[in-house]
Amino acid sequence: MLTLGIETSCDETAAAIVDENGLVLSDVVHTQVEIHARYGGVVPELASRDHLNNIVPVYRAALERAGKRLRDIDGIAVTCKPGLSGALLVGMQMAQGLAWAAQKPIVGVDHLVGHLLAVFLRTPEQPAIELEFPFLALLVSGGHTALYRVEGRDALQITELGATRDDAAGEAFDKVAKLAGLGYPGGPIIDRLAREGHAGRVPLAMPMQRQRSLEFSFSGLKSDVARWLEANGPLSNDQLLRDLCASFQHNVVETLLSSTFRAAKKEGLRSIVLAGGVAANRSLRARAHAYAERHGMRVVVPPAAHCTDNAAMIALAGSHRLARGENQRGQLEMSPHTQLARVTRKGAGPR
Ligand code: KG4
Ligand code: ZN
Repeated sequence: MLTLGIETSCDETAAAIVDENGLVLSDVVHTQVEIHARYGGVVPELASRDHLNNIVPVYRAALERAGKRLRDIDGIAVTCKPGLSGALLVGMQMAQGLAWAAQKPIVGVDHLVGHLLAVFLRTPEQPAIELEFPFLALLVSGGHTALYRVEGRDALQITELGATRDDAAGEAFDKVAKLAGLGYPGGPIIDRLAREGHAGRVPLAMPMQRQRSLEFSFSGLKSDVARWLEANGPLSNDQLLRDLCASFQHNVVETLLSSTFRAAKKEGLRSIVLAGGVAANRSLRARAHAYAERHGMRVVVPPAAHCTDNAAMIALAGSHRLARGENQRGQLEMSPHTQLARVTRKGAGPR
């Protein structure tokens, strides 16, 4: 059974074809990074327009690379939440047009569920990962940072345990890079610079953590970087910049991982999955394995290309629903919000 996935929720136009075992036949991603880079963040209207320009060629490339025609596809899965409204609508219109024209079933997928299930994708080079439900997942992306208990593939089987009160971890990377004049997106740039820096040399606040709370907050750390830059910048010393990146990254990574492992213990879960764009961070990946060894737990991290936005994870998240006969033709609803139940209140207040 072949599923066509379509993803346009933010700044990547993506289409992919995946079979019922999660094997990726094609995975095409057109990134808009260059368009948004000069603004230091995603500009929604520019995102929608660029999706419109690229959705058809990206879809065609996905079919071509898989060596398939539309008639070979058994169903369509499209991201319909959460994300930028105008951007989501482009992918949804495309998917609904195809479903209508070719008489294919269609399902709407929550982008966060896609990220959480990306660990089950496989390629000829990357064999299937043995992983059973339930597991604990840390989802860290540009728009979301949260811990989940994942009992199965359906959205109703996924429970949020705690999320960020303010900035997402990826957003913090992007904002700090902008403050330091490093470019966009900040995550990969800071990741690279931090490798040659020393975390101890720039004293930054550790994000607040409470023993009983599984919520995160990154805005204080970001403000601390802003204050430090004001007092010490503009940075002409390359080494100091690298030290700043290392220190910031260290604090983010340690905060994420200490809460993740605390959550796993609390939930009695021994398998931990990292998901979302920030899971591509090399320090986070390496430190997660070190934590796992210390705690006698297992950490599974998908390859970087499956962590950042892609349509293969969307196809996979829709395929089991299509397989059981679900069809939402004419009933898809776009929303900027996730359908996953949330327990974290945004903003300040006691935790
Ligand atoms: O999951 P994703 O591709 O899109 C969203 O759904 O948000 O995540 C994008 C985020 C950006 O904030 C980017 O800076 C961050 O992931 N990111 C990284 C790395 N690669 C991407 N953050 C830290 N280290 C990286 N290597
Ligand atoms: Zn994402």
